[in-house]
Amino acid sequence: MTRPRTPVKRLAATALIFALPGLAVIAALLFLHAIAPLLALGAAVGCVLIAAIVASPIARDLAQAARYGDELAHRGKAEAPELSGWAPAAELAAVMRRIQRETTEREQKRKDDAVPGSRLFDALPQPLIVIDDGRRIVALNEAARQFTAAAVGSSLSAAIRDPELLEACEGVLKDGEHRATGFNITAPVEHYFWAEIVPFATGKPGDARVLIALYDLTERQRAEQMRADFVANASHELRTPLASLIGFIETLQGPAKDDATAREEFLALMHDQATRMSHLVRDLLSLSAIELHEHTLPNTVADIAGILERVVSTLKGAAAKREVTLELSAASLPPVAGDDEQLTQVFQNLIDNAIKYGRGGGRVRIAATAERGEVRISVSDEGEGIPARHIPRLTERFYRVDAARSRAVGGTGLGLAIVKHIVSRHRGRLEIESVEGKGSTFRVILPVAKI
Ligand SMILES: Nc1ncnc2c1ncn2[C@@H]1O[C@H](COP(=O)(O)OP(=O)(O)OP(=O)(O)O)[C@@H](O)[C@H]1O
Ligand SMILES: [Mg+2]
Repeated sequence: MTRPRTPVKRLAATALIFALPGLAVIAALLFLHAIAPLLALGAAVGCVLIAAIVASPIARDLAQAARYGDELAHRGKAEAPELSGWAPAAELAAVMRRIQRETTEREQKRKDDAVPGSRLFDALPQPLIVIDDGRRIVALNEAARQFTAAAVGSSLSAAIRDPELLEACEGVLKDGEHRATGFNITAPVEHYFWAEIVPFATGKPGDARVLIALYDLTERQRAEQMRADFVANASHELRTPLASLIGFIETLQGPAKDDATAREEFLALMHDQATRMSHLVRDLLSLSAIELHEHTLPNTVADIAGILERVVSTLKGAAAKREVTLELSAASLPPVAGDDEQLTQVFQNLIDNAIKYGRGGGRVRIAATAERGEVRISVSDEGEGIPARHIPRLTERFYRVDAARSRAVGGTGLGLAIVKHIVSRHRGRLEIESVEGKGSTFRVILPVAKI
C-alpha cells in the first residue's frame, strides 16, 4: 500500500512551527552581529530543512489519524492507519479505535434489545387491524389472521361484513373520535367480538388511519347466555308443577270440595308434583355444591366395585318395574381418588337413565375394568339410542332429547350435568356412544389413585 502524500501546505506549516525556535536564535545572533548575514541565511535554510525532515512523518501521521477519525465518524468503520511510530499519533489512533469499537458494541446491543414494531404487532394476542382512509387494510396481526382470510390490501368490508363496524370506522375517519361496537362472525367458527376503533396517527400529514382492536367476548357472551337460560329453565321447571298444584288446590277448595274420590286422586297427583319440585330443588342444590368444589380433587379413596354393587341393589326395584335385567361385572379394581357419595350419584343417574330410556324388558350391562392406570366403567342399554346431534348437548343443564318423555318419567334434565361436573372434579372423562335403534353406552373413565 502506498502512503498518502502529506499535503505540501500542511508540511510547510508544520516545518515552520518546528523551525521557529532555531530561526529565533539565528535572528537574535544576527541582531547582535554575532553572525554574518550570509551565514545566518544558510543556517536559517538549514534549520527549515531539518524541521521539514523531522516534521514530515509527524504531519503524515496526523493526516492519517485525521482521515481515520473522519472515516469512522462517517461510515462507522475505517481501515487502520499506517503510522510512522510517533507515539502520540499511535495513541490517538488507538483511542479512536476504542471509541469506534465501543460505539459499535453499544449500537449492536441497542439493536439486539430493541423489539421491532412489526414483530410486537404480530405477537400481541389481541386481534388488531389497521385501515387507511380508503377503508383498505394496511396491516393486520397474526391474531386477526386467525379469524379472517382477508389480507393486506383488501377492503375491510371483505374481512368483516358488519354494517355497524364499517359505519363506526367511517365516523372515526371523519371526526377522529373513538368509537366501539360489537359484532358476530360466523366463519370459520362463530365468534362475538367487541371492537374499539381509534384514530391512529402515523406522523405523516394527510395520512389518516384507523386502528381496530378486537376483544373476543365469545366465551363471556356464551356464559351470560347460559346463565340467562339457566334461570329461565329453572323457573319454568318449578312453575309447571307449582301451577298444577295451585290448580288442584283450587279445585279441591271449589268444585270438588265434597268429592272424596276426586280428593284421593288429586292428592296423589299433588304428591307427584310436590315430589318433582323437591327433586328439582335437590338437584339444583347438588349441582351448585359440586360446582363449588369442582377444582379440588377429593382426598379420599373410593371403591368403585362396592359403589356399583350398592347402586345396582338400590335400583333393582325400579328395574323390575320395567322388567329390565341389571348385569354387573366388576373385576378386582384398583382404588380411585374419589368421593364415595358423589361417585354413587354418578352411577345412580347413569343406571337410572339406562333403566328409564332403555328398552322395557331389556338388559342394562354395567362393566368396570382397569387398564393403563385408569378405571373404565360403562353402562350400556338396549334402548332407542340418541340421535348424534343431541349427544354433545346432553350434559347441558335441563337438556333433554324428548322433554315430555323425560318429564313423564320424573326426570329434571339435570342428572347428566351433575355427572359431568363430578367426573370433571375427579379429573376423569365422560364418553357417550349411541347407535339409533340399538342402544347407548355411557362410559366414565377415572384415573387410578396414586398411593
Ligand atoms: N341411556 C339413555 N338413552 C337415551 N337417552 C338418554 C339416556 N340417558 C340420557 N338420555 C337423554 O338425555 C337427557 C338428559 O339426561 P339427564 O340424566 O341429564 O336428565 P333426566 O334423566 O331427564 O333427568 P334426571 O336425571 O335429572 O332425573 C334425558 O332426558 C334423555 O333424553
Ligand atoms: Mg337422569
